[in-house]
Amino acid sequence: MRSFVRSILFSLLAACSVAGELSFTVTAERGGEEVDASDLNIVRIPSRQHSRQGPATNEDEKRNTISYSGNWCGASQHAANASDQIVNAFGSFTAPDLTLRPGLPAPQFAAAWVGIDGASCKSTLLQAGVTTVINSNGGQSASAWWEWFPDAAFKISGLTIKPGDWMSVNITTSSLTTAKVVITNASRGVVVTINISNGSKLCRADVEWILEDFYDIEGQVAFAKFSDVWFLDTSATTARGKHIGIDGAAMVYLQSTSGAVTCMAEQYDDSSFVVYSP
Ligand SMILES: *[C@@H]1O[C@H](CO)[C@@H](O)[C@H](O)[C@H]1NC(C)=O
Ligand SMILES: *[C@@H]1O[C@H](CO)[C@@H](O)[C@H](O)[C@H]1NC(C)=O
Ligand SMILES: *[C@@H]1O[C@H](CO)[C@@H](O)[C@H](O)[C@H]1NC(C)=O
Ligand SMILES: *[C@@H]1O[C@H](CO)[C@@H](O)[C@H](O)[C@H]1NC(C)=O
Ligand SMILES: *[C@@H]1O[C@H](CO)[C@@H](O)[C@H](O)[C@H]1NC(C)=O
Repeated sequence: MRSFVRSILFSLLAACSVAGELSFTVTAERGGEEVDASDLNIVRIPSRQHSRQGPATNEDEKRNTISYSGNWCGASQHAANASDQIVNAFGSFTAPDLTLRPGLPAPQFAAAWVGIDGASCKSTLLQAGVTTVINSNGGQSASAWWEWFPDAAFKISGLTIKPGDWMSVNITTSSLTTAKVVITNASRGVVVTINISNGSKLCRADVEWILEDFYDIEGQVAFAKFSDVWFLDTSATTARGKHIGIDGAAMVYLQSTSGAVTCMAEQYDDSSFVVYSP
């Protein structure tokens, strides 16, 4: 009995200390010149579960096919060879530009992001992107963030992003627990670099470019209507230097619990696709 209690205590302590160890540094530049990153006002927010939610898919369904998810819309790609892991993920996209979806309460939301390990690696997800919120009066605001699930998530409050602005995300892992995330306010020329260490061990098995009806602490948020969001220059690189685009990726459609398809993804070529409201 005593050893049972002790082992529970030990695992709780281990879990806390793991979560507390993630650390990072941030630098920023504009037009190639370093600027004061403290102006970026980086705020810790509750980490959220952005991994792909049901319905369950088997491995075969994941490639070269359309599949459905309860929270994701976009492209989900796997490393072709499990022993040649994904080390880099890149994509440019616009911050979602929203309108209110009739019949749902406000505020309403949509998040766009690029990530590694959201599909098959259930234990972690390293990602960065932008969330736009629209209020009942139609006013919108967008903010960039990054997250290394389940350790921590941070909002970059000082990086002004307007709905429709182009931005890009470049995630480079230097080990299973360290990474560099570069978020570029592409339309406005600001580059934020976040060096992260001691993250949860990655699988580096898959890469994804997603528009999401995400979950916050109270459950899934109300998903707004959105103007088409293009994802451009979508690419990933493996440890052995192999380039991966979205050819052969699963194109994921968002299907709400009522059964309505609220977002579809259409591939244009190996490095671009669009997500749109049907
Ligand atoms: C990472 O975690 C280890 C303990 O596992 C700790 O010794 C080290 O200081 C941490 N490094 C950083 C950069 O936080
Ligand atoms: C996968 O990678 C391993 C390790 O480098 C290599 O030996 C194997 O030939 C690769 N398989 C394919 C199908 O490329
Ligand atoms: C992003 O671009 C806008 C427009 O130029 C600018 O107002 C804003 O300050 C930029 N973000 C940062 C962090 O500088
Ligand atoms: C992403 O960052 C890596 C590492 O710094 C760099 O080698 C690569 O060129 C960047 N990709 C793009 C598209 O800028
Ligand atoms: C990030 O870490 C790498 C390797 O540890 C280092 O070379 C680089 O200067 C760091 N960059 C920033 C912006 O802190």
